Amino acid sequence: MEIYRKTWAEIKKNHLLHNLDLIRSQFSSDTFLCPMVKANAYGHGDAFLAKQFQEWGVQNIGVCLIEEGLLLRKLGIHIPILVFRGFDKKGAAAMLEHRLTPVVSHLDQLKILGELNQSIDLHLKFDTGMNRLGLSFEQTFEILQILKQNPQLHVQGLLTHLYQSEDSLLENSQSKIQIEKLHLIIEQLKSVTDQYHVLNSGGIVCKMEMLKKNQKSGFLFEKNWGLRPGLLMYGYNPVVNSSFEFKPALTLKSHTSVVRQVKKGEGVSYNHRWVAEKDSSIAVVPIGYADGWHRLLSNQSEVLWNGQRAPIVGNICMDYLMVDVTGFAVKSENEVLFLGESSSGEFISAFEVAKKAQTIPWEILTSIGERVPRIYL
Ligand SMILES: Cc1ncc(COP(=O)(O)O)c(C=O)c1O
Repeated sequence: MEIYRKTWAEIKKNHLLHNLDLIRSQFSSDTFLCPMVKANAYGHGDAFLAKQFQEWGVQNIGVCLIEEGLLLRKLGIHIPILVFRGFDKKGAAAMLEHRLTPVVSHLDQLKILGELNQSIDLHLKFDTGMNRLGLSFEQTFEILQILKQNPQLHVQGLLTHLYQSEDSLLENSQSKIQIEKLHLIIEQLKSVTDQYHVLNSGGIVCKMEMLKKNQKSGFLFEKNWGLRPGLLMYGYNPVVNSSFEFKPALTLKSHTSVVRQVKKGEGVSYNHRWVAEKDSSIAVVPIGYADGWHRLLSNQSEVLWNGQRAPIVGNICMDYLMVDVTGFAVKSENEVLFLGESSSGEFISAFEVAKKAQTIPWEILTSIGERVPRIYL
């Protein structure tokens, strides 16, 4: 589609490949790997990402919704797509028709699949402490019964989700307790599969850090735990003080030629939450909270104005926000960068923005709205 607006997200293919290869280089080639492309590939565009991962030899990708999987199938993605959200009968039929791989988190779902009387590849998800989704240790006997009665159900993997994986190197790591619970489940179900996937971004980096120091023992090494990277794929590393350099792939930028002169004492934007302390130059930038730039960032955060840091002033509107560019050079067309690296080498990280918006980088990236065009470089 033709792009008319002057706000877009640029996504660097070489950074995505760097991140993928950095992960792949640290683990044996038989390690289960399932990059997560849910939520529009963390805002980077799932259609593009799924296609790239397929081209780059990735064997599985993960989505949350059946709808997300169906869209990717429609676009010609043929590799296995794991669907992590639960499903009912209707959803199960749709998944089968389009060869999506169900991740079963509830006994009822396993029964639904059994009733379909078809050959079905599936994964079994266990709750080991997150208390969100997943089967339990206590259900393993019944699971075995259902699988015995339905030999067409083929379990491709067991999984659990770590809820504080970035702290997996700490002495009192919660991940250790989760993995201990998983071992008990594996013991019961070892006849069913020998594939287990566990590590999200934090867990992957912690294991990489240990490998680097040649420390190859402990709960992260007890099995060749499979990998489900999300944030890391897109270039943000959630482990503090990590030695691995992942490259953020997304740059969010806008352009404006509108700069207004505001007199000392005049207010800017709704409710005049910012008032000029001196005569000021205020740029009007065509991006707002409907594009995903949170209103919480009003009067809180900075942008790169032609490569130099400048503050957002006043309340962020639905379609616009204002930046104080007093004293800065103003060109006929000015670049305003919100996330990523400017051509001058200055950088705004999703971690920095998340802190200002009292959230996490996952939310900053996934909030970037549908009406922001993605351009792939
Ligand atoms: C089941 C599951 N696995 C993996 C991930 C990826 O997590 P991260 O982005 O922290 O790597 C998620 C994300 O929420 C998830 O729900």
